[in-house]
Order: sequence, then structure tokens, then C-alpha cells
Amino acid sequence: MPSSNVSSRAGELRRQIAHHDRLYYGKAAPEITDREYDALLRELCDLEDAHPDLRTPDSPTQRVAGQPLGGFAQVRHRVPMQSLDNTYSLEEADEFMARVERLLPGIKLRWTIEPKVDGVALSLTYRKGVLELAATRGDGATGDDVTQNVRTIRSVPLKLEGGVPEVLEIRGEVYLPKKKFAALNAEREKEGEALFANPRNAAAGSLKLLDSSIVARRGLSAVFYGLGAVEGGTAPSSQSELLSWLKKTGLPVVPKFWEAGDEAGVRQAIAELEKIRHDFAFETDGAVIKLDEFKRREQTGSTSKAPRWAMAYKYEAERARTKLNSITVQVGRMGTLTPVAELEPVPIAGSRVARATLHNEEEIARKDIRVGDWVFVEKAGEVIPAVVGVDTKARTGREKKFKMPEKCPSCGSKVFRDPELTAVRCINPDCPAQIRRRLEHFAARGAMDIEGLGEAMVDQLVTAGLVQALPDIYALKAGEVSALERMGEKSTANLLSAIEGSRKQPLWRLLFGLGIMHVGAALARKLAGKYQTLDRIAAAPVDDLENTEDVGAIVAQAIHDFFRLPHNKKLVELLRGHGLNFGERDERAAPASQELAGETWVITGTLSRPRDEIAELIRRHGGAVSGSVSKKTSYVLAGEEAGSKLDKAKSLGVPVIDEATLRGRLS
Ligand code: IVH
Repeated sequence: MPSSNVSSRAGELRRQIAHHDRLYYGKAAPEITDREYDALLRELCDLEDAHPDLRTPDSPTQRVAGQPLGGFAQVRHRVPMQSLDNTYSLEEADEFMARVERLLPGIKLRWTIEPKVDGVALSLTYRKGVLELAATRGDGATGDDVTQNVRTIRSVPLKLEGGVPEVLEIRGEVYLPKKKFAALNAEREKEGEALFANPRNAAAGSLKLLDSSIVARRGLSAVFYGLGAVEGGTAPSSQSELLSWLKKTGLPVVPKFWEAGDEAGVRQAIAELEKIRHDFAFETDGAVIKLDEFKRREQTGSTSKAPRWAMAYKYEAERARTKLNSITVQVGRMGTLTPVAELEPVPIAGSRVARATLHNEEEIARKDIRVGDWVFVEKAGEVIPAVVGVDTKARTGREKKFKMPEKCPSCGSKVFRDPELTAVRCINPDCPAQIRRRLEHFAARGAMDIEGLGEAMVDQLVTAGLVQALPDIYALKAGEVSALERMGEKSTANLLSAIEGSRKQPLWRLLFGLGIMHVGAALARKLAGKYQTLDRIAAAPVDDLENTEDVGAIVAQAIHDFFRLPHNKKLVELLRGHGLNFGERDERAAPASQELAGETWVITGTLSRPRDEIAELIRRHGGAVSGSVSKKTSYVLAGEEAGSKLDKAKSLGVPVIDEATLRGRLS
């Protein structure tokens, strides 16, 4: 475990690097040489390599490591994607405008002001109005081909309306709507998966998933605000025209923008945007000031990194000072104890904040947070509140240091320290808090999908002593349930029939519902597909498990160990006794034939049925489905409007087949 010395050094390095980044990029006034800057970054990199626990998603080292992910084809942008200079100071925004005025003397300039969308930059290429390619920015010149994933975003039109140029590059931002982000994290929390720090990270992570059917479910959205290449036709000649033109072609654009003729007008727009920015579906961390007329933009030109005609003004992260009343400890599904700050409620960035996660004991020690302190709370990424520091001047001496309890706050059994995970865990399998979380997970929509068995119901059942372990729900009697609060005859009958119905759920749902460490829904499907029955999965040797796609040594060991623990053996036998589907009757997962055994397929374009369904069909006939074309691909199944994957297949000489031919082979 990293000592608190090491972690405080890492924190200090991060602060320094962030400070110098701001000076360098924001103010163009570096205080240190590039060499000194590189030394700081190098030191942080080395620390994180030695103590991977310390690596945070916002660490500047992650930016350095931001090369394109494997698995996606690389594509060159016709016109490079630049970034923007930014500032936190209104005076600097004025200076920027004055600079542009000096470059274009005697010309009356017009400005537009738009929300800066905190998403992931995206470039779309439409050919003859049809979406051909979607690419991330990458290094600005070359990005990842994420066409397959972007096609799943409903707000991105596959075909533009009206007459548009032959080739048209459109620039904008993919984002995860704030509400979807909250729901996604809530679900991940239930499933014991790592949370995304903010919507931008969630959008970036989603865009780079190799399985586009999962991307589709995430509910990404997009807005557009710019042009790249325009070939064979004409496009608007100013930003204000562009935004209404894009809208007419069917592309979603920023929901509001302002026009201004001078510095005062720009400042007013920035102030108005600040007031309404929390009402947008996406996160807005600033305002982008742009020269309106494209002809004038050309005259100002660009530096190597950013255009001279635009600048981003960033709003300060919203922060509040409030009292830390207490630190409570939550117990997760896997028994992990997490300290939570219970705060005197305070409004930040449009919502009331009363709690904030403190991650773990180390984090609390590093920031020297004590119960009774006045603390500063920020909404990082404006969504997850975090305690960023302590107002030490306000200390009275009565504040109390926090210590992780030695006993589980739920069941009272002794807790264990897991140095690898920097975690403290309760390992009592009968711990009521864990049972609650496990039941919630078991019944969740993505697992056994038992309607009516949510957090509140689980709480009632466990509190009333009716349920002490998962299998107990299958023994519930109507009389017991209807005696609970707010449970009439009808809701009792509904709940019992939902529980009853869940016995027939496919094997993968049961497997996922069991809550085995590292086994998410996608992996549960793979295991169920490979082994066909729960008993075969339970009996599988570690090396055989490891031979499954996406299963490494740690995951294989976790699955193996799970089925060897006595209380889990008992759990499985009790569930069998209640007649749950252990796989044999799972027809959907059962192979229809082995016609496609050993073949890897990639699906592209629009087919007669949703892509998920076609993928399932291929799997049922023994084939495997992959998200990207490589030399290992056996066939590409191409539908209408197939794009870059088709090109890739042709260039690699991978055979391309249409849906009718595939169906012919399977009939
Ligand atoms: S215009 C030449 N407008 O912010 C670059 N960018 O931090 C012109 N961004 O690279 C970009 N909202 O990915 C522009 N309304 C907006 C924006 C926006 C978000 C992104 C964009 C840019 C990044 C710079």
C-alpha cells in the first residue's frame, strides 16, 4: 500500500503540473522550462507505476498516455481537429478580442458565444449526405474510427436532409446526458463496478467500447458546432448561419448561442450562459467565443495548436464551504467499506449537496479531513460532489480524526484490510448490509429482472427477517408479504409472480445475478454460451475458464473460488431446489448448429434485424462476433450503408457477405 508520504507527493505533483498547464496553455506565460515540466511529469509517472493505486483518471499522466486505443482503425482527418486556447479570466477574454481586432484593423467584427460542451470531440464525414465515417480527435491529425459506435447514437442522422456538399466534415461533441450519467453510475455502483468520475469520462469510455450494442444502451447524444472539409458544394459563410444550416440538415446543434458586436456584449452573453448552463442536458464548463465570419477567420489564421479566432472562457468549478457533520461507513455488495461525508446541506451548481464520497481511509488522511471540520466541497465534473480540502483556519481543536472501524458497521464482525485494493472489507457472508446489496443486485433489471424488488422492498424484507439470503425470496408467502408496509393484495401478487417468473430467466442472468467478483453481464453471457450449464461453470478448472474470451487469470481464479466456498455451494444447492433455470432448459443460449464454428464475424451497415439479434444468431450457430475488422476476421456481414469496415475488409481481403447469403448457410 502506498504510504501517505508517497500519495501526498503525488497529489502535490498533480497540483503543480495543473498549475503549470494553466500558465502554459491559458496564459501563454510559463514559469518553468519545458525540461523542468517534463521532470515533474516523469516523477509522477514513476510514482504511479510503482503505486498503481495512486493513478487517478484525472492524472496528467493519463493525458500523456492518451494514444489511440487498439481495436479501432486509424483514420486521417481531411482537415485537422484543433483545440482551443482557454482562460479563466474575463480580462484575458477581452485581450483576445483586442488581439483579433489588431489583426483585422478597421473592420467591424461580429462574435458568437456558445456553450462549451464538456464531451468528447467528434468528426463526422458525410458523403452525398450519407454518414460515412465518425472519428475521434486522436492527436488532431489522426483519430480512431468509431463509426460503428456513433451509428448507435440516435441524435446523429445517418442521412442529411436537403442538398449538401458531396463531402462534408462536421465537428462537434459526443456527450452522455447528465441524467443518463447518473443512472449509469447508480447501476455500476450496484454491480460493484468502478464509477465514472464525470460524464465526459463516461462518454469517452462508452465511445471506445468494442461492443457497439453496449454503446447503444448507454444513451449517448451529440451536438455539432463546426465544419471541417467541404468538397463539391458550398456551405455557410458564418457561424450563425452554420448553426441554423446544420439544424436544417437534421444535425443537433448547441441549444443556444449569442451574437455580440463588442467586448461588453460578449461579457453579457457569458454571464447569461452562466445562469442557464446547468439546464442543458450536457455539462458546460465554459463559453466559446468565436469570430462569426469565416472569411475573417481565414485572415487571422491559426497557431500550430489552436485557431486565433476563437477562445474558450472557462467558468470556475463551483465550490462551497460547509460543515462536515459526520463520516458514515457504507458496506458494499462485496463487503467493501466506503467512508461517506455527511455534510450540512449546501447548494452547489444547481443542486443540494448533503453527502460526498471520501473514497477510502488514505484519501481522508491525505487531505487531513476531520469530523467537525469546515470543508470545501466541489462538484468535480459538476456532478459527483467531492471534498477537496479543509478550511484549517476555522479549526477549534475539537475536530476528530477519522479511523476506519475495526468492526463492520452492519454486522459487527471484524473487518480485514485488503492492501491490493486499498480497501477494508467485511468478509462475513451473512452480513445484512451485504445481503441487502446482493439482493438488490440479484433482482436488478440487468440481472434477474424482478420487478418490484428494489431497494425499499429489499430493505423491508430483510428488516422484517423474512429474507436472510438470496434463496429465501423463492419461499416467500403471500401472507408474509402483504403484512409489510404499503403492500396490498395486488402488489403482493405482482411481486410474487415476478419472483416466480424469474425462475425461468436464462442462465447468464442467474450467473450475473450471483454477483461473482469481476463477472459482469457481458462476461456472464460468454460463460453461459460456452459452458451451457451452471454446474459445468462451477466445475470448470481455472485454466479452462481462462481460455474464455475476456477472462484473465484473476477473473478465472475468482470464478473458480466462488464455487468452492462452502456458503456459495449451499447457495447454489438452495437455488437449484427452488427450481431456477441452471441452463439445460435455456433454449436461447443453446446452439442451433455448429455451422459457423471457428469463424469470427464482423457486422456492419443496416440489416433486416437489429445488430444484437444478428450477432446472437451467429453465436447460436457456433460463430464469434467481433467489433472490428482485422486479418483474423473470417467474414464481414455487410448491410445497407456499410461504411469504413467494408473498406477495411476490402483492403485486407476479408470476404464480404450479405445477409441473405448468411441466412442461406444457416437454413
Ligand atoms: S469550436 C478549432 N465550439 O472544446 C477548434 N469547440 O477545449 C474549434 N468544444 O477542441 C472548436 N464545445 O472539442 C468549439 N461550442 C464549441 C465547443 C467546442 C466544446 C471542444 C472542442 C475543442 C475543445 C477545446
